[in-house]
Amino acid sequence: MRPNVYITRRIPQSALEKISEVCNVEMWEEEDIPVPRAVLEEKIEEIDGLYCLLTENIDETLLNRAKKLKVVSNMAVGYNNIDVDAASRKGIMVTNTPGVLTETTADLTFVLLMTTARRIVEASDFLRNGNWKTWSPMLLTGQDVFGATIGIIGLGRIGESLAKRAKGFDMRVLYHNRSRKEEAEKTLGLEYVDFDTLLKESDFVCVMTPYTPETRNLIGERELSLMKSTAILINTARGGIVDEAALYKALKDGTIWAAGLDVFEEEPVKLNHPLLTLPNVVTLPHIGSASIKTRTLMAELAATNLIQAVTGQIPTHLVNKEVSNQ
Ligand code: DGY
Repeated sequence: MRPNVYITRRIPQSALEKISEVCNVEMWEEEDIPVPRAVLEEKIEEIDGLYCLLTENIDETLLNRAKKLKVVSNMAVGYNNIDVDAASRKGIMVTNTPGVLTETTADLTFVLLMTTARRIVEASDFLRNGNWKTWSPMLLTGQDVFGATIGIIGLGRIGESLAKRAKGFDMRVLYHNRSRKEEAEKTLGLEYVDFDTLLKESDFVCVMTPYTPETRNLIGERELSLMKSTAILINTARGGIVDEAALYKALKDGTIWAAGLDVFEEEPVKLNHPLLTLPNVVTLPHIGSASIKTRTLMAELAATNLIQAVTGQIPTHLVNKEVSNQ
């Protein structure tokens, strides 16, 4: 019997073909609209495998409807959209796609850092809106990147790759992480510091940590008040890690200088969100890993994880390892 799987969005052909060789596939065909909850609730009852994106909320209520589900394969490295504990209790495997998106996401983080520091979006709009009357000494001046201090909160794979880029710009690299990474300190010349020191001494504070109950609102009013008035906050991890109301206030009253945000607490962010009214905020629509090559690799890796699970193997990128022992 071929396993039945449901895919919650149109995915790259190579990944779809891979899955179709082994499984009976049903797929939500819309490109721009997430699968409605009601459809997911109906589909999940009869399938062996679910292939989903970070736009789907795979909570306990949904998982409770599943009668024979073996795996939820998330096409993302982050899996805060899935109630992993609930899945584990039901013996459902959860998988993710680490590794393949590391460099692409580090690239985007550095791009966002430079774009924010040098006011690139503002400068481009300035020209196109017909405001460029003459060259003048302090027009659209920003912050230097070379030689500045970057503070990386969360030194996982992407954090380390970001550090490599920063070193190329002769930056002093501070990091804070649950555990020290002494090897990386030696090979990359990084400095481990406590959280508050990182906030106080960094010109660029980069949020690179996973989103968990512990990291919710990790950057709030207190943390922003510790940062330099010339500091720039960069977040390419998850929106909920930064308290958006506190960030708005800090940017508006000059507590910090600017922010570059690829992620928001609620996505897509509403166009009337206060942060979108500020000129010192650069915003992107969650495109950290969005290169053609990387998104294709992520889709294929999620396909491999799914196939492994529904054919009785232990998936390579199993998040809840305890399930494989049940
Ligand atoms: C992830 O994988 O978690 C990103 O946010 C999307 O690439």
